[in-house]
Amino acid sequence: MTQALNLVPFVSVEHMMKLVLRIGVEKFLIDLAGYIEADFGRWQHFDKSARVASHSDEGVIELMPASDGDLYGFKYVNGHPGNTKAGRQTVAAFGLLADVHNGYPLLLSEMTILTALRTAATSAMAAKYLAPKDAQTMAIIGNGAQSEFQAIAFGALLGIRKLRLYDIDASATRRCANNLAQKGFDITICASAEEAVMGAQIITTATADKQYATILNDNMVGAGVHLNAIGGDCPGKTELHRDILLRSSIFVEYSPQTRIEGEIQQLDANHAVTELWQVMSGAAPGRTKPEQITLFDSVGFAVEDFSALRYVRDQLAESHLYQDLDLLADPDEPRDLFGMLLRAGQAAALPA
Ligand SMILES: NC(=O)c1ccc[n+]([C@@H]2O[C@H](COP(=O)([O-])OP(=O)(O)OC[C@H]3O[C@@H](n4cnc5c(N)ncnc54)[C@H](O)[C@@H]3O)[C@@H](O)[C@H]2O)c1
Repeated sequence: MTQALNLVPFVSVEHMMKLVLRIGVEKFLIDLAGYIEADFGRWQHFDKSARVASHSDEGVIELMPASDGDLYGFKYVNGHPGNTKAGRQTVAAFGLLADVHNGYPLLLSEMTILTALRTAATSAMAAKYLAPKDAQTMAIIGNGAQSEFQAIAFGALLGIRKLRLYDIDASATRRCANNLAQKGFDITICASAEEAVMGAQIITTATADKQYATILNDNMVGAGVHLNAIGGDCPGKTELHRDILLRSSIFVEYSPQTRIEGEIQQLDANHAVTELWQVMSGAAPGRTKPEQITLFDSVGFAVEDFSALRYVRDQLAESHLYQDLDLLADPDEPRDLFGMLLRAGQAAALPA
């Protein structure tokens, strides 16, 4: 795709929804997981850093950069668990992809929907390496914005067919079950987290609360289970009792960030964890025993957003689902920035 120097393709929420619907949400998740897996497979190429977080009493605002030396991406994202009461999303985001060699943006995109998709794709990709091979049943505790995406990703990538849903807000569970009604799942609505985990080989926790919460107690997690814990993703915001961590093999995205933000903030700083890319490259084992408890302590990492932006950009030439934004000043003579303003003023009969 060629672009005029001043024009940057912008994917709005409306265009993102059309793109996902045109590709199909299952295929989008499978293809996106492929992009994420490819980027995790070249982990050493990336310039990586823990995200920059600005905390407040209500939540957090984060900037998440990553670069592979040719492309640079960042995401702006918030996490405000109280937002839904005022009609806002807990997590809202947008992001940008740029050319490292000249610093010019190549794509600006909504990333609220894209974050739900990339989080679900990453969770399912991790579970491919860590969950019991015969897993058919997943519990989802916390049935908010992320939940349907998680369910569909695990259906598409792992063949999960049975869902056990629980949320402290029963209306959230009803909505999630209704939204998934045509997706071929056998769905059980549960009255407690204890009931939800019964018979589940995979447990996804996706709750939002700004505290050390105990969504799962030690006695709720049996041998052989895979835990996909996505809701504990900030200092002082966790979901699992510490004793569960002590019984689990723990897998993380990027340990310097997860030590600060993940469930493992409850453990000693030198507690052994494995980064997911090590398992994917064969450098470290994933699940080695049927009775092993595996935990994907997910907080969300910038490389996943980079992959998601890269995937969306690759769809644009064919889909045309974007609009051009006049984002960058582009004077005919690059150093004549003021002259451009001056001439615009003369044309409009306004002094610069
Ligand atoms: N790891 C990642 O990459 C990643 C990505 C996106 C979101 N998240 C996190 O995932 C969590 C969920 O995000 P969301 O967008 O779905 O939020 P959301 O606010 O839309 O939904 C959260 C749901 O959790 C429920 N809940 C809260 N406390 C509960 C409890 N004790 N037991 C059962 N349910 C409970 C709420 O009623 C709500 O329905 C957030 O904490 C968010 O920060 C992580």
